[in-house]
Amino acid sequence: MSTRASSVPLNYSGSLDVYESRDLTPVIGREFPSLQLSSLLGNDRQIRDLAILVSQRSVVFFRNQDLELKDQKTLAQKLGELSGKPERSQLHRHAVTDRKSQKAFDGEKRADEELMVISSDNAKSAHKEHTSVLKPLASTLWHSDITFEHVPSDYAILKMVVLPESGGDTIWASGYEAYDRLSPAWKRFAESLTATHHNAMLKQKAAGSGVDLIDKDRGSPDNKGVDFEASHPVVRTNPVTGWKSLMAAGHQVDQGRFDDVTRREDEILKAYFLQLVVENHDLQVRFRWNQNDIAIWDNRSCFHTATFDYDGPRAGNRIVSIGEAPYLDPKSSSRRAALAKL
Ligand code: SIN
Repeated sequence: MSTRASSVPLNYSGSLDVYESRDLTPVIGREFPSLQLSSLLGNDRQIRDLAILVSQRSVVFFRNQDLELKDQKTLAQKLGELSGKPERSQLHRHAVTDRKSQKAFDGEKRADEELMVISSDNAKSAHKEHTSVLKPLASTLWHSDITFEHVPSDYAILKMVVLPESGGDTIWASGYEAYDRLSPAWKRFAESLTATHHNAMLKQKAAGSGVDLIDKDRGSPDNKGVDFEASHPVVRTNPVTGWKSLMAAGHQVDQGRFDDVTRREDEILKAYFLQLVVENHDLQVRFRWNQNDIAIWDNRSCFHTATFDYDGPRAGNRIVSIGEAPYLDPKSSSRRAALAKL
């Protein structure tokens, strides 16, 4: 397994300070209104700084980008490499990709297992109940990407290319701040637990579409098999910032379980941790997309959800990179405690 034992936070060198940017809320989100990510591609120092900023702010937004899909992939891999991820971690290969007919939204048809096309057509069939009139609460789709993998994601890059006239916003929530909202006693309790994350939909999706599941090397040799479940610490340390983040919340633990507790305790933990993420709108940031905008987020320290309030097509290209096996460094700090020392 790719593990790290301790976390020495990386220092931001200031190389992106020449570009205009602003924080969107006190705890999560930053926007660069005019920086073109394509202009950073040859500059490893700036890409490393970008990784650090994304890890600090959890999600960072860029308007009207000219970044091509191949460069989106290069950038996703370099963000992790330059901020210290294990060598064997590459880009995630999505377990159920329609390799014959998937069409990337740069116009070309391509067989690319590392590309996840986010499209309203797929979303509508995967989340039928969310697009019907009698939909359930909209808050049932919060997640971090691919936590069912033993070595899940560090960074994800989504470029939205086709947008409805209105709606279709994405919302992110800070895992650092969710952890910081726990009392000292609950922090200690949560740190003593692990939880099994599970994605039950992948096998159903493969069976329904006649596509073979990718059963090995999904971006790391440790990401194999078709169980699509993995046990991880409930609180993890982000190695880039050295800050603790709540990991076990969202629908990926809804379909899994808190380990070694009773069924009732499992229900209570799931409900409370989900409530921390979903009902605290002061740890969330909501992004209204324009065409060709890009969001880069750190899956180790935030959750996100789509909003199914739109009609018409909506589509984009998402690349998810693989980081390290989640771990908790007991000596690492909470975000608030670390910033209070500055
Ligand atoms: C995602 O879950 O990565 C996509 C979010 C969205 O469609 O808004």
